Amino acid sequence: MVALTVNGRRVEVAAPDHKPLLWVLREDLGVLGPKYGCGVGQCGACRVLVDGEAIRSCMHPIGSLGGASVVTIEGLADPDGRLSVVQQAWIDEQVPQCGYCQPGFIIAATELLARTPAPTDAEIDEAITNICRCGTYPRIRRAIHRAAS
Ligand code: FES
Repeated sequence: MVALTVNGRRVEVAAPDHKPLLWVLREDLGVLGPKYGCGVGQCGACRVLVDGEAIRSCMHPIGSLGGASVVTIEGLADPDGRLSVVQQAWIDEQVPQCGYCQPGFIIAATELLARTPAPTDAEIDEAITNICRCGTYPRIRRAIHRAAS
């Protein structure tokens, strides 16, 4: 049994220690924002914040996360439903095409802006290593600059 906090809610998970956080979120807890893309730590579709760090949840076994605080795309908005600055910028810049990978990008952008409030294009490219098959990278950059302003 692993106890952790997910989007502000304390949960206890009875899953094998080796089960990746991504699948605990999706299968055991019904948190479907984090997506499965590659399963090998490449694409970033599964990124969530763990204690403020945007990790690739397909690569982190639940057994290593006791006591952690996990925030997914579902946990970024205020309790009253007001979107985060990053989420709102994504809408204002109409970033998504198919949208599948975007939760991971928004999580990565949220982490970047928390530690670098006004990132340059180079800092964005260095920090946001997710993969988008629709090629939305220019709009992602614009949205991050908008959220930073
Ligand atoms: Fe985790 Fe691709 S599904 S990095």
